[in-house]
This record gives sequence, structure tokens and C-alpha cells, in this order.
Amino acid sequence: MKHATIEKNAALMSILVLIMVAIGGLVEIVPLFFIESTIETVQGIRPYTPLELKGRDLYIREGCYNCHSQMIRPFRDEVERYGHYSLAAESKYDHPFQWGSKRTGPDLARVGGKYSSLWHQEHMRRPRNVVPESVMPDYPWLEENALDYDDIADRMTAMSRIGVPYSEEMIKNAIADLKAQATPDSDTDGLNTRYGNKVPLDDFDGQPKRITELDAMVAYLQMLGTLVDFSSYQAQAR
Ligand code: HEC
Repeated sequence: MKHATIEKNAALMSILVLIMVAIGGLVEIVPLFFIESTIETVQGIRPYTPLELKGRDLYIREGCYNCHSQMIRPFRDEVERYGHYSLAAESKYDHPFQWGSKRTGPDLARVGGKYSSLWHQEHMRRPRNVVPESVMPDYPWLEENALDYDDIADRMTAMSRIGVPYSEEMIKNAIADLKAQATPDSDTDGLNTRYGNKVPLDDFDGQPKRITELDAMVAYLQMLGTLVDFSSYQAQAR
């Protein structure tokens, strides 16, 4: 009996089990790389503006993902608290994605527009100024440090190499677009043509004459989860 030989030999059994599980895994996983509907095309999804991309880099630099997730799961308690569950398309231009794995603080996937930029300024300076019981650390240097954006065109070029559809036009105008988004009353026509009319515009750090790291961070926070209009969104049938 061949089967008896396998059952009596732990090493052989393990290897054969491993092969079986690997085949099962491949059958499940490989099609996901080819099926069009794995990431459905959703209206409103756009690449980050240069200022938001900078903010996202700072979010990673400061380790915000250690306490915050950006992934609303399709469960009733989460949807009631945070809003519509996250769509795959909403993080398709995230390299690396910021889904996170720990929630010491709340999920941030839809925090955009929830608070004013003034609230964020206070909150980043010292979270307890606005939420007395908060255990979130202070990030006072963000409003002090001038934003270093000399490398923004290179950052966007790097992103475009891994699939983010930044056009040459977007890369060429990166610095102008970055400044326009954070400067009230500036000419934002170019920015709006390239990234749409819903781009949040504000003096995000409350310092009209400077562009600081806080401008980038708050611009990023203010757009999170706002790209898709869920009043008209319909999930694609599979
Ligand atoms: C040690 C854990 C920790 C870290 C690190 C952390 N936070 Fe928080 N965060 C919290 C907690 C707890 C709250 C809830 C209390 C509050 O609002 O301050 C919170 C709340 C927030 C909120 C408000 C969310 C809401 O819906 O009310 C934002 C925005 C936020 N954090 C952004 C950030 C950013 C940006 C960073 C990185 C610069 C960061 N956090 C780093 C713990 C953390």
C-alpha cells in the first residue's frame, strides 16, 4: 500500500502536504493578478497632488501607521463609525499602501473633511489641545520645518515608474502645483485641470507666507477618503 508508506513517514507526508497546499494557494491567488475586476475602476480616483504626496511621505516618516489604520472593513460597526468601507481602488496609487495593522487611534481612511484645517493644526501641535484624553504624541516640528520639496519631481517620476499615472505635464508643474494648493488666493487653474476640481485648497498650516511640513501633512489628511462620491457609487457586479 503506497498510502501507508506516506502516512508512516512524517517527512514525506509534510513535503506532500506542502505541495498540495501550494497548488491550492496558486489556484486561488494567481487569477487575482489577471482578473480585471480585482481592482475595479472607480470614478473620482486620481493620483495624489504633489503636496499630498509630500504629506504622505511625512505620514510614513513620522510612523503614523503605527497607531492608525487606513482600511475600513465591511462590517456594520466600522461602517457606522467611519463611513463606507474602503474600496481597493482607493489605495491603488499607494506605494506602499497604508492599511496598517493597529488602531491605537481611530482609522483615518475617511478623515478628509471631518475637521477644519485649524483643528488639525492644533491637534498636530498638541493633540490634548483639542482632545483632552488623547494619548497621541505631539508633532510640533511639522509647523516649524519648511517643507523640502526640491525632490518632488523625482518622487513623482519614481511613482510613475511603478504605475501611478503622473503625466509629464504633472511632473513638469509639480512645484507650481504644490505651492498653489497651499497658498490661498493663488491661481489654481492648472492644479484643478490636472487633478480635478475637488482638490482641497487651503492655507493648511495657518501660516500664509510659509510652506511647511504641516501644510503637506494636513493637505494629505484632508483628502483621505474623499475621492469617491458614495452617493452615486455602485459596486460592480462580479
Ligand atoms: C501612539 C499612537 C499614535 C500615533 C503615533 C499617532 N496617533 Fe493620531 N491618534 C491617536 C489617538 C489615540 C487618537 C484619538 C484621540 C485624538 O483625537 O487625539 C488619534 C487621533 C488622530 C486623528 C483624529 C482622527 C479622528 O477621526 O478623530 C488624526 C487626524 C490623527 N490622529 C493623525 C495622526 C498623524 C498624522 C500621525 C503621525 C504624524 C498620528 N496621528 C500619530 C494615536 C496616535
